Amino acid sequence: MKRTHTCGELNLTDLNKKVLLQGWVAKIRKMGAINFVDLRDVYGITQLVIDEKLSKKYDFLKNEYVIEVEGKVIERKSKNKDLKTGEIEVEVSTIKLINKSDLTPFEIKDNIETQEDTRLTYRYLDLRRSIMQKNIILRSKINHIIRNFFIDNNFIEIETPVFGKSTPEGARDFLVPSRLNPKKFYALPQSPQLYKQLFMISGFDRYFQIVKCFRDEDLRIDRQPEFMQLDMEMSFAEDKDIMEIIEAVIKKILFEVKGLDIKEPFLKMSFAEAFDKFGNDKPDLRFGYEIKTVDSIFKNTEIPLFSNLDNKTIRSICVNGLLNKKQLEELTESANQNGVNILAFTKFDKNEWSGSIASKLSQKEKKELVDFFNISNESTILFIVDDYHKATKAMGAVRSSLGKIQQLCNPNDFKILWVVDFPLFEFSEEENRFVAAHHPFTMPSDDCLNTFDKEMKKAKAKAYDIVMNGFEIGGGSQRITDLKIQERMFEALKLSKEVIDKNFGWFINAYKYGAPYHSGCALGLDRINMILSNSENIREVIAFPKNSSGIDPMTYAPDLVTESQLNELNIKIKE
Ligand code: AMO
Repeated sequence: MKRTHTCGELNLTDLNKKVLLQGWVAKIRKMGAINFVDLRDVYGITQLVIDEKLSKKYDFLKNEYVIEVEGKVIERKSKNKDLKTGEIEVEVSTIKLINKSDLTPFEIKDNIETQEDTRLTYRYLDLRRSIMQKNIILRSKINHIIRNFFIDNNFIEIETPVFGKSTPEGARDFLVPSRLNPKKFYALPQSPQLYKQLFMISGFDRYFQIVKCFRDEDLRIDRQPEFMQLDMEMSFAEDKDIMEIIEAVIKKILFEVKGLDIKEPFLKMSFAEAFDKFGNDKPDLRFGYEIKTVDSIFKNTEIPLFSNLDNKTIRSICVNGLLNKKQLEELTESANQNGVNILAFTKFDKNEWSGSIASKLSQKEKKELVDFFNISNESTILFIVDDYHKATKAMGAVRSSLGKIQQLCNPNDFKILWVVDFPLFEFSEEENRFVAAHHPFTMPSDDCLNTFDKEMKKAKAKAYDIVMNGFEIGGGSQRITDLKIQERMFEALKLSKEVIDKNFGWFINAYKYGAPYHSGCALGLDRINMILSNSENIREVIAFPKNSSGIDPMTYAPDLVTESQLNELNIKIKE
């Protein structure tokens, strides 16, 4: 390398050294006849001082030009404590222009208000910004920690195919037509699930892979069509063994990235409890506001909404402080988005009651509310009346919005838990049958092993999710390794023998040849990076993501292809 140092390296110990630096012009400041230039590379910024003569010669220099300078390290008069190189500057003796730059479509600095699509169109420039470089470097660091951790723990890294077979159940597949096999399609893997199970049958004992997965789902702030997993599987292992190893790797990441030394085991909470208290299966435990049932307080009520409950229930949260009109409207919107029309409320302010139900609240109800919620300060009590599931889910959404409105989600606080005892099945209204809640190879819990195919609503799975700050960052299960149980599972799912043979025959067959019991898990790496970098959405931690419509505005992917490409694949587009 021609350069003697990077732009993030020099300090007072380098005084008087002759150095050669290369980088991008980040900023030019004129102070009389002298120019101060910030020279930038991925490692940092170094201030250059350019004298009158050189400044004149290089007055064409602009931001983002790439230059090479030689000079001497001198002490700065006014030091910048925020910069690693802030105590020195380089007195430039020669400048060489390496490349010019057009005016960039947005400034290369951290806080910009440019539209996301513009940033994605010029992603290579967006990635020049220090905040984005930090995110991408964090990814690399986390991958490094994970790879070392698993190798140190005797895991073997094995790659699995990207061109696989489409199997029903799970999310929608991305399909790839095969030119060599007309009319046939490969499917891109939603995860390496089936292959990793086969590795256990092959006897590899401990497998891991940092791997790309593909799912054709609607996009959200924490979803991309292609995303990365840390995927792992262990033989002769049960759920507790997997949780132990995943906890250890998460703790190691938090220690090395955030300096947090978490000693205690992660909390475990049943799916039923998480749903009851927080309205979803990925509770953000950085704040309280548990959802409560208050039916008994309103047994003889005058409030029309709360009387004649039939199959309905009243779910409620007591919020610190008096929410204003705008905040209540925002919360009502969250309830509306979950199919609930009314978010009733009452405010308690120094024994004064106001709000939508206040005029009909009896003295007894007021007293019971104060006792039940242990109210001593100004508070707002929110209520949703509907069937248990709908009311709880909607209140869960209201709770999540409250966290944002009241800024209760401290980004430097990391609350992690395991959610366990998931239902084995969920009912699909669309298909009018039960479908596997996780996937059809998930082992039923011990207590429903005899009944899971008869009492499907009650059946629980040996499955577990790991949740951090309100995001599901991973999930896994113990797998079915007993063919009889697998057959009963398929029957329960109403999958015909024909469908099974055609789709999973190759897989089920493998279990005839001596399978160890085994369990595994996968972590969503983009989500972990998003949380640990305190990013607003998953796209901020992916070098070249798709926008919220699934498009890459830089390359225009996905795009039309030529007629001859389609002909080669025997494909005709329906107009
Ligand atoms: P699961 O489907 O729960 O399990 O996926 C594991 C984790 O991957 C992340 N994830 C995503 N991240 C970004 N964009 C997406 N579209 C996306 N979908 C999932 C989540 C999730 O927790 N094969 C099983 C694991 C196992 O049973 O071992 C699986 O894939 O963080």
